[in-house]
Amino acid sequence: MQDAQSEGALTALLDWYREMGAEEAVGESAIDWLRRGEAAPGKEFSRQLKTPSTPSGPPLSPPAGRPLPTMPVPPAPSRQFPATAPEAAVLAARTAAREAASLEELGTKLAAFDGCSLKATAKNLCFYRGMAKARLMLIGEAPGRDEDLEGKPFVGRAGQLLDKMLAAIQLSEQNAHIANIVYWRPPGNRTPTPQEAQVCRPFLERQVELVAPELVVLLGGAAAKHLLEVADGIMRIRGKWREIEIGSVKVRAIATLHPAYLLRAPAAKRLAWRDLLAVKAALGG
Ligand code: URA
Repeated sequence: MQDAQSEGALTALLDWYREMGAEEAVGESAIDWLRRGEAAPGKEFSRQLKTPSTPSGPPLSPPAGRPLPTMPVPPAPSRQFPATAPEAAVLAARTAAREAASLEELGTKLAAFDGCSLKATAKNLCFYRGMAKARLMLIGEAPGRDEDLEGKPFVGRAGQLLDKMLAAIQLSEQNAHIANIVYWRPPGNRTPTPQEAQVCRPFLERQVELVAPELVVLLGGAAAKHLLEVADGIMRIRGKWREIEIGSVKVRAIATLHPAYLLRAPAAKRLAWRDLLAVKAALGG
């Protein structure tokens, strides 16, 4: 009876994890990053982390008559996981990206870059798919499970729908460049944080400079908000052409609904279709 109950509880817990997007273990064996010392990603940024300053103000004291509970203090790890020092990481990203004279070099720089904490849990770098030079560049949110396994953006279900959307306006990856605002899969497919997008941004800017598209399509709210620097929801942002500056490039951009959203809400496809027709017209029909 108790076995059946605990089995039921475990199954419910697994269902909950799946609902939250955690559909697999990150690796077959756990990695203890704290023990990897110098070999852990981001080591150079950890050195630049400021030691937290001692808080000022009166020392905290327990409420009268109640002693503070004593808790066992675990020994301090030999190093902190260096996921935070965005300024240093952004600076390093900028330097690395600027040095890349081609997309191939940019890919090599990205592969060597340890300043984005998403890299620690991702299996592969997802740089781009499609053409190195293209009149149309599409930018999504972040790699998901299939993209992480394959090391390419938009190869899962959402990617298959994206390919159909492109085919509907006589395009394909043979005449487009497809990327994301971050290059590694966020754990559990969560939306990348603004910090993660900011750290990847110098690479994306260089990528846009090298691809030199005439038009950029932003897929979904996360990409649109990040690159258009607006706080409105995607339903308000979509379907309007704007000129945006990415790195040294000024380019026309339009936001549309993310194909993953269209899979969940097929009735919204008519709005995406309008945006696609606008893209087709802007490319010259
Ligand atoms: N969703 C995205 O935003 N990007 C991908 O590469 C895949 C799914």
